[in-house]
Order: sequence, then structure tokens, then C-alpha cells
Amino acid sequence: MKTALSDSIDFLKPLSAAAPAIGLIMGTGLHRLADAITIRHAVDYADIPHFPISTVESHTGRLLFGTIEGREVIAMQGRFHGYEGYSEEQIAYPVSVLHGLGANVLLISNAAGALNPDFEKGRLMLLGGLISLQDKAFIADLASSTEHLFDDTLCERFRTVAKQEQIPIHEGVYVAVQGPMLETRAEYRYLIRVGCDAVGMSTAPEARRAKALNMACLAVSVLTDSCDPDHLEPVTLEEIIAVAGQADRTLSDLFTKLIASC
Ligand code: HPA
Repeated sequence: MKTALSDSIDFLKPLSAAAPAIGLIMGTGLHRLADAITIRHAVDYADIPHFPISTVESHTGRLLFGTIEGREVIAMQGRFHGYEGYSEEQIAYPVSVLHGLGANVLLISNAAGALNPDFEKGRLMLLGGLISLQDKAFIADLASSTEHLFDDTLCERFRTVAKQEQIPIHEGVYVAVQGPMLETRAEYRYLIRVGCDAVGMSTAPEARRAKALNMACLAVSVLTDSCDPDHLEPVTLEEIIAVAGQADRTLSDLFTKLIASC
């Protein structure tokens, strides 16, 4: 019996190369990376059998096949969020598709609020750990170990590339919340107290699925706002996107150099 997953993979297989690929989730702050891709094929999510469709305006929904610095990449231009009504299984599904198409590495970007008072708005944070407070109504990966989601070698390469480029980066624990509302002052206090450095609304399902499939995963947050509960300033989605846009070139350059080193 053909499964949904094999349907999706069979549809896309003719577009992917034989060589192992690097999977990319180009979330907020990583739109320019698409310019670094020598694109062979671009497929709308809507045309891929069983693929979810992105409903957020700031996220285009296309899968790009091509190369960066001669390395084969398959890039998701636009991702899915729990607050759009998708289940964790739906959000993680494209990662299974990338894996089925030969991706053994997954690089993820996202936008997050800085909880750690020493972390600066506009900077990048390499995820060293992840706490998920999202709905985990999730069956497929129940049995898999998720003790350490991020790949040490990839993280070390990212630190090296950032150092070479003289880009200061933070490193810390990302907490995934359901959204779409930003947190209350009391919630920020709580998240800080339990050891979270940055808060966002994505990445957990995809990183967990990558781990379950033995893919080497790395994730970076663009810190788009400061979540200081004692001096909270109103922040809008437009402002978050504007700050993410400023970090876009930096993160895209670092990912390009990281990919070249893989
Ligand atoms: N909270 C949750 N998600 C976010 C934030 C935030 O402050 N900033 C960007 N994404």
C-alpha cells in the first residue's frame, strides 16, 4: 500500500539529485539565502501531494531544489506553525519528505524574543537546547530519543564560521510556545526563571523529527525583540519582521559559509 509520504517523495524524486542533500528551513530572517541558491526547480507546496500549505503572509510556500557553493540543497521557503492550526505531525511532515529525498542534514532558522537580559536584540542565537511548551499531540516520534537535538559538529562549525566573519553570536536554550499571542509579563518572568534564553513559536516539531530520523540538525534564532518583563515595550509583528530583515544578510552569509564547509 502506498503511503502519503511515499506519494510526496515519489512526486519530488525526479527533481532531487543523487547526492545527499542539506535540508533548509528558511524561516524568519533567512529569506536572502534563497538568492544564494542556484535553483534547478521550485515547486509550490500546493502542488506537492499531501503537503501542508502555508497560511502566513510573511512565509512563501515553495520547495527549492538546487546548490549552494556546489552543495546540493533542498530548501523550504516558508514553514508551518501550530498557531495556524497545524498538528505537530503536519509541521514535521516536510522534514520526513526532505529525509526521504536524501537530506541527512537540517539547518533551521527562526525569529525569537530574547529572554536572557545579556542577549541583544538583532543578534543571532545558536540553539544549544530546546524546551517545548507546545502541544505535543504527536504519535510518530513517541518512541524516539530526543535527549540532544542539535549536532555538536555542526554547532562547532557554525561557531567557527561566525568567529571567522567576526559576527558575535549568543548561544542558549530556546523555548517553543504555541502562540500566536506574544507572552504576558508574568509568562516572561516564568520562562526566564526556568532557564530559557529565547522564546519563539516554531522549530520544536521539525528539530524533533530530524532527531528521530537521525539527521544532523542545527538551528539559529534571530533575536527580534527584548522580553524584559520590567521594561516591556509593545512590539508588533511588523517590528519583529523588520528586525529579522536586518539580520537576514548576516545569517544567510553564515549559513552559506557553513554549507560550504559541510
Ligand atoms: N515571543 C514569542 N515568539 C516570538 C517573540 C516573542 O517575544 N519574538 C519573536 N517571536
